[in-house]
Amino acid sequence: MGKRGKENWGSQLGVILAVAGSAIGLGNFLRFPGQAAMHGGGAFMIPYFISFLIIGIPLTWSEWAVGRAGGRKGFNSVPGIFSLAARGKRRWSYIGSLGAVIPVCIVMYYLLIEAWCLAFAIQYFLGFLSTLGLSVPSFLPGTNGAGFTLGSAEAYQAFFKSFVGADANASLYLTDSGSVTFSPLMWCTVFCLILNFFLIYRGVSKGIEGFCKVAMPLLLACSLLILIRALTLTPPSDEPGRTFLDGLGFMWNPSQPDHPFWESITNPDVWLAATSQIFFSVSIGFGLIVTYASYVRPKDDIALSALSATVSNEFCEVVLAGLMILPPAIMFMGTSGLAGNLGTFSLGFNVLPNVFEQMPFGQFFGFLFFFLLFLAAVTSSISMLQPSIALFEEGLGLGRKRSICLTAGISLLGSVLLCHFSKGLYALDTMDFWAGNFGLFVLATLQTILVSWIWGPKRMLRELRLGSKIHVPRFVCYGVKYVSTPYLVLILILWLYKNAGAYFSEVRSNSLAQLVVGFLLLLWVFYLLITFLSLRRWKRMGIELKTLAKLELDEENDFRAPLDSEKEN
Ligand code: ALA
Repeated sequence: MGKRGKENWGSQLGVILAVAGSAIGLGNFLRFPGQAAMHGGGAFMIPYFISFLIIGIPLTWSEWAVGRAGGRKGFNSVPGIFSLAARGKRRWSYIGSLGAVIPVCIVMYYLLIEAWCLAFAIQYFLGFLSTLGLSVPSFLPGTNGAGFTLGSAEAYQAFFKSFVGADANASLYLTDSGSVTFSPLMWCTVFCLILNFFLIYRGVSKGIEGFCKVAMPLLLACSLLILIRALTLTPPSDEPGRTFLDGLGFMWNPSQPDHPFWESITNPDVWLAATSQIFFSVSIGFGLIVTYASYVRPKDDIALSALSATVSNEFCEVVLAGLMILPPAIMFMGTSGLAGNLGTFSLGFNVLPNVFEQMPFGQFFGFLFFFLLFLAAVTSSISMLQPSIALFEEGLGLGRKRSICLTAGISLLGSVLLCHFSKGLYALDTMDFWAGNFGLFVLATLQTILVSWIWGPKRMLRELRLGSKIHVPRFVCYGVKYVSTPYLVLILILWLYKNAGAYFSEVRSNSLAQLVVGFLLLLWVFYLLITFLSLRRWKRMGIELKTLAKLELDEENDFRAPLDSEKEN
């Protein structure tokens, strides 16, 4: 049984920073610029902003509303919150189990990328990756034991491939002779795991909120310094097309040489990419906003907090990441240097190090950039662990320590799988597709149907307005029902039609894809079982979800008692 009372956030600012921290992550700084440039620049930004308005803000509000309503009745786990919103229907608890399993699956690879960022930051700090012509010491992987000189995107690519173990399976921890030796990256991965679970262990207020209060201002300071560096750079050559403005044009011009405006804007792939980016970046469909919102005090503001966190996320993505990444890359590498290198990993780990290598004070700014990525990643990854921990705590009645250990064990299992099958990063990409794309679309669509069609726009509006410091217009909640839901269903169908076929046949033909998908399915079955046990336990404890769901707002405070007193025992 839990040995604690109901957890709450410490302050309003703390909630905003924690939720902004969970949203601002690798998606903002690594994924966004490449996606925008690959999908037609300015033409991509049109569906992007439309998705932000139709999906981003309203769905975030809906997640906050349903989350706090559940929290007021004593529930922090997505299965409990979903079932309450569905007036006690058990099937929604089972659907809610997705809200606990999806973030855990995402964290399995997110932690690895977090470790890459930390490792790169350390290498910049120590001067291994710095100025043109510097040799990478021979003890680092990727050097074939002899050290080699970087200085081109290809050299960085080779270095990165070897460094992250993409050359061969198990190369992160096995030497050529077969003995077990942890590579520097493995140590960084272990450190990231420990750091994440330590922060979570300290609790919602002391751990998550406390860390975000330090990390977020630091993250902003790092990005502003990098932005100033980007804005004051002079192009290294007089070649045409190498100015800062050319860089901005590469990302913002609605019509690009390879992507004419009408071709891009009528291309379903561009709409899908833009909507996916909003999902990933705002953290919609992860189950984590619902969980975070359940820790907000019953009558504190949620509408303004949600809006502030979402707008901060957009500021970091569109303004900061939009200005500080591609323009310097274009200045130093030109459009030809970026061709084929706009994928999340190639832009971040192959192109940018080459840019830092050429710019004045590149070592310092390289360090700042990867440290910023590391901070952004930690504030996001800790949020992804909380939904699973909350389910173990309140569903199985495990104490915080045990719930954390169980979640840690599960995440470790996935991360070990990915560290072992590291060749070509194929397993990681497969997991990203099924959990970080497919899973998000499915959960977000189901959750929107629940909130807007079953729980209802009236309840959502009433919840948002309770304690709100801003006036939430009525049309937003009805918009979720009549605009966001059909838009989401349409996008989901389109997305399945365009993408899923290739991935399904991949699963049929590739044994590693089968292993990864099988592992994810098995994990979901495990969380379904936990949900089943939770429902039985709540029933035994006399917690009637149906009755709780019927209670109106003013009565609700009295009825969170069973779970709260249970947590205190
Ligand atoms: N929203 C988080 C990110 O952008 C997951 O990385």
